[in-house]
Amino acid sequence: MKKPSQIAIDGPAASGKTTVGKLLADRLGFLFFDTGVMYRLATLHALKKLGQVDDEAAVTALTREMDISLRTNEQTGETEALLFGQLVNGQLHSPEVDKQVSVVAAYSGVRAALTEQQRRIGLLGDVVMVGRDIGTVVMPDAALKFFLLASPEERARRRSQENQAKGIDSDYVEILRDILRRDELDSTRTIAPLRPAEDAILIDTDQKAPEAVVAEMFSHITQALTA
Ligand code: CDP
Repeated sequence: MKKPSQIAIDGPAASGKTTVGKLLADRLGFLFFDTGVMYRLATLHALKKLGQVDDEAAVTALTREMDISLRTNEQTGETEALLFGQLVNGQLHSPEVDKQVSVVAAYSGVRAALTEQQRRIGLLGDVVMVGRDIGTVVMPDAALKFFLLASPEERARRRSQENQAKGIDSDYVEILRDILRRDELDSTRTIAPLRPAEDAILIDTDQKAPEAVVAEMFSHITQALTA
């Protein structure tokens, strides 16, 4: 088998997709692409323009017209998100965006617009793409698909730590509640629900450091290369 050029990583909220995905992409020299940022940008844009996200037609129209770009900061390695040329990273994980993003992500027109852009990036190859529907919808032909699992409590603990490190207010119980609510919305929506692809490799990340998860992924990549 040739070098797997598309790698999909899916999983529920705060399951470590970004941390692990970045490490893996770095090691492989691949592009790291976080689709969650796109749904967060659509939500932020709608909140800025409309003050709410309940009007599906209006939110969809705003998503179609939004001008976004994602770039990697060479110094920090962070993904920088620009909305109409403005750096908005600091606003993407606000409680308001966290609260509304799964509502916006369930809108069919929003998904159609963003999925199309994600597919185009996927087709370029040499990419580690992370999200909820990458293995099932965005890159169904990906050479390797991983689905990360972790208990809600472990995920809430990780997100609290992450927020604290970023200087964002962090209440464990609030975070746990948000994670459970988003999981429910993401996995019960009709279009592209959160679920592992049939050929996905499930990795339980409870009690595992990111390095250990990446090592596990690498053993699957090596197996695929030698198969
Ligand atoms: O980092 P975290 O796991 O908290 O979330 P995220 O990956 O930034 O995604 C935020 C939200 O966007 C998710 O809860 C989903 O509602 C939505 N999303 C999606 O529907 N499909 C994707 N491919 C990626 C994110």
